[in-house]
Amino acid sequence: MMRVNIIGAGLAGLSAAVRLAQMNIASALISVQTSERAQSVLAEGGINAAMNVSGENDTVQEHFEDTMRGGVYLADPGAVRGLTQEAPLIVQELLDLGVPFNMEGDALVQRRFGGQKKTRTTYARSSTGKALMTAMIDAARRYENTIEAAGEAFILRYPHHRFQELILRDGACKGVRLQDTYTEKRIDLMGPVILAFGGPNGLFPGRTTGTTANDAGGLATVFAQGVELANLEFIQYHPTTVQISGKRMLISEAARGEGGRLYVMRGSQKWYFMEEKYPELGNLMPRDVVSREMDAILRDPECQPPILLDLTGLSKKVWQKRLPDLRKEIRHYLDIDPARQPVPVSPGIHFFMGGILVDRGHRTNIPNLYAAGECACQYHGANRLGGNSLLGALYGGRVAAKSIAEQLFSVQKVQDTAEQSTKTDSSDFSAAAAEELARILSKGLGIVRDQAGIEEALKELDVFGQELQLSGKLTEAESRRLKLAQAMLLCAHARKESRGAHTRSDYPARDDENWQKTTVAVYKDGNIQISFREIPVQEIRETEYIKETAAALRDTGTKNDQD
Ligand code: FUM
Repeated sequence: MMRVNIIGAGLAGLSAAVRLAQMNIASALISVQTSERAQSVLAEGGINAAMNVSGENDTVQEHFEDTMRGGVYLADPGAVRGLTQEAPLIVQELLDLGVPFNMEGDALVQRRFGGQKKTRTTYARSSTGKALMTAMIDAARRYENTIEAAGEAFILRYPHHRFQELILRDGACKGVRLQDTYTEKRIDLMGPVILAFGGPNGLFPGRTTGTTANDAGGLATVFAQGVELANLEFIQYHPTTVQISGKRMLISEAARGEGGRLYVMRGSQKWYFMEEKYPELGNLMPRDVVSREMDAILRDPECQPPILLDLTGLSKKVWQKRLPDLRKEIRHYLDIDPARQPVPVSPGIHFFMGGILVDRGHRTNIPNLYAAGECACQYHGANRLGGNSLLGALYGGRVAAKSIAEQLFSVQKVQDTAEQSTKTDSSDFSAAAAEELARILSKGLGIVRDQAGIEEALKELDVFGQELQLSGKLTEAESRRLKLAQAMLLCAHARKESRGAHTRSDYPARDDENWQKTTVAVYKDGNIQISFREIPVQEIRETEYIKETAAALRDTGTKNDQD
């Protein structure tokens, strides 16, 4: 029986599987970890949808505009249009599935979130990811138990199976090669493939809020197999994270959405720098802006770090009804009661805007291969808005499923599953090697970068690779990961402007004329090639809001972060 092979059982993978099942298309849901342990479970703050529940006359158009502006006009407007239009329907469907969103009486409530001019983030306390995943796991279970004509369930799970590589023939994707992590047996599953394995957090152990169980192996492998990646230089640093053992702990943006304030001591005064510098959105400026300001403060001799997040003004009701889990976590991990004492915070890696290049139908450059969720590059441009990642994962999964359904008739005859027992290479870096790679990458891919730093990182990466090779410790899997790391640095090197999460101290201005383009990285003929692809700039310029922005820019003659 033909199945669509979905790699990753987080929100995007589940969304695709459920949507395929609704269209009577069977899928294999493949993951190393079970859905309950996917990265999506960790999402805290909420999911955006313009539903105007706060009486601020919110509209889909404004959600679209905020997303485009937050991404500094690098996202495809056609794709963002679809995302923002479907958001209210998606939230309604989640409600129908029983997601325990915060309500007042019978009415949904929403909260403020970064980079958005209206209140539009729907949430379940500060555990929105967990609530959504519970509902989607349940929705999928229905199809895991529904027997279709051929006598098997619509959704067949392959937990504890590691993605090994794509099976490519004649330039098209014919299936996937997996390895059972218990038996180490190799298994080939034929059919179209949706990649939904999340962002490459494993390249940054100890520096990211994401799970390093997403070891970057999947992205590295498909890159080595010729899949085009895009915008790898855009890495989001979330402003409010805290170092705990082995990772960065997220202090949800929801805390600022509910009234949290950032300050630093300057002399004997508390300096609420975001409120002073950005009177309109203040602490809720987009994450790239807040993180950049914090990075500057940490280097300012007049300021006395740490930067503190003051949540002491939040009401009892907010702590009880809206952020109880966050308070519990801060108490547990930091031994601080945030209702009484400010929390020291600093920026940490949180999200990868770049990833597998997909078109509006979530198709990659390889026929029969699709991608959705954080591993795909689509909706977020140069900087993602908080609350748009859960939305992007759910929506992207649906779109990929729809594209597959449309294309199914052209899928070539699918072969049956073939099992083999060959052991394949899936070895990981040692912890020391992983740390060294993260150190090198951080040198070139910090909040603020420059040519010298990126070139130094590239040189160190080269030496590191040679040393591993000489010591006989460079396996195929590790060598692919090094290629991915090199591609990220090369993308950052190539983009000679500052935009969103890519801040070059040597090219501080945003330069639409030359760089309003998608960075594309491809591995071809043994080399990494970086090029820039046009985006539908005309469509971007045609939106009303952007016309206004352009006029304002012409009037003031400036280009600043509030534009
Ligand atoms: O801060 C947060 O709760 C993160 C949310 C997001 O990245 O969407």
